[in-house]
Amino acid sequence: MRALELHSYTGWRTGLQPVEKPLPQPKPGQVLVKMAASPVNPADLAFMNGQYGVRKTLPTVPGWEGSGTVVKTGGGPLARFFLGRRVACAALDGYDGAWAEYMLTSPLRCIPLRRRVSDEQGAMMLVNPLSAWALIDLARRGKHRAIAQTAAAGALGRMLLRLGQHYRLSMVHIVRRQEQVELLRSLGAKHVLSTHQSDFDEQLQDICRHLGVTLALDAVAGEMTGRLLQAMPRRARVLVYGALSNSACQLHPGRLIFKKQQVSGFWLSDWLPRAGLLKLLHAGWQIQNWLDKELRTEVQARLPIEEARQGLELYVRGMTQGKVLFVPKS
Ligand SMILES: NC(=O)c1ccc[n+]([C@@H]2O[C@H](COP(=O)([O-])OP(=O)(O)OC[C@H]3O[C@@H](n4cnc5c(N)ncnc54)[C@H](OP(=O)(O)O)[C@@H]3O)[C@@H](O)[C@H]2O)c1
Repeated sequence: MRALELHSYTGWRTGLQPVEKPLPQPKPGQVLVKMAASPVNPADLAFMNGQYGVRKTLPTVPGWEGSGTVVKTGGGPLARFFLGRRVACAALDGYDGAWAEYMLTSPLRCIPLRRRVSDEQGAMMLVNPLSAWALIDLARRGKHRAIAQTAAAGALGRMLLRLGQHYRLSMVHIVRRQEQVELLRSLGAKHVLSTHQSDFDEQLQDICRHLGVTLALDAVAGEMTGRLLQAMPRRARVLVYGALSNSACQLHPGRLIFKKQQVSGFWLSDWLPRAGLLKLLHAGWQIQNWLDKELRTEVQARLPIEEARQGLELYVRGMTQGKVLFVPKS
């Protein structure tokens, strides 16, 4: 089969290349998925730089999620249940990932796709929609009346915006460019601030005070984490779930000592086993209902893995334009 293989944790420009590999054979309890689509996410970029929470033995195929059809199983009742079904699927930690013609995985990492869900939206269903659902659930269970979020014009940010609208949460959306302010306003966002504005910090403090913001969801980190804390009241919390700035969180220790503010992290991989089966089934069902609206992802390009370099270049140059999907050669 054709696949993209990572040979060194030096990033995609130097570490990634298309290869021909033997078709993997499922062991008992595993399924083989013929891939229909797989997106490029920030987690894939971090993985290829060696900065993700999981490191695999090299060489390995990157790609954390995708969709396709289960074409073979290694036996076992659960694996057999999936045979012939269209699924959203996630890669296993110790195995090759989704940027290939076929991927081996566990049925526990597959969700059967309902007929109304396209291969494309199904391919992007596990990482972002599930995280957006989990983050809003955490905010609601924490009884936060109003929340702020960074990187708000990205795919996950737009999902948070639309879920916030659905649940009538007051939200402050933080972006870094004027076009992104306009984009979010066109989606109905009321409070959008951009870090390119010189009075950003004063505006953020004013709006946080006015709305009573007590939680910030931060995908940028770096100095943004401290700026968020600075704008929020005593006992407020920043939940860091991304590192788009590629730099360490910066904050004044007085925020933790005197203001009793908190900074913590969120990782979907930790949240999933803790959520419990009932909650996951509920989330899986609701997410598929919402994939064409609240949890929809925009796509800027669909390319075969042979054109991966071009696709990755497009994505890193314009993440707000939408996801790049790897699809089989037509
Ligand atoms: N912890 C978890 O379990 C979990 C799960 C899912 C996603 N995430 C994280 O969620 C974040 C968003 O993912 P996504 O798929 O929505 O990304 P995406 O669709 O690619 O969008 C990324 C957005 O962030 C902006 N951005 C990029 N670098 C930035 C920087 N240094 N400062 C400010 N804004 C920046 C981009 O704007 P430009 O167009 O201006 O570049 C774009 O609007 C990522 O950090 C991802 O790793 C975490």
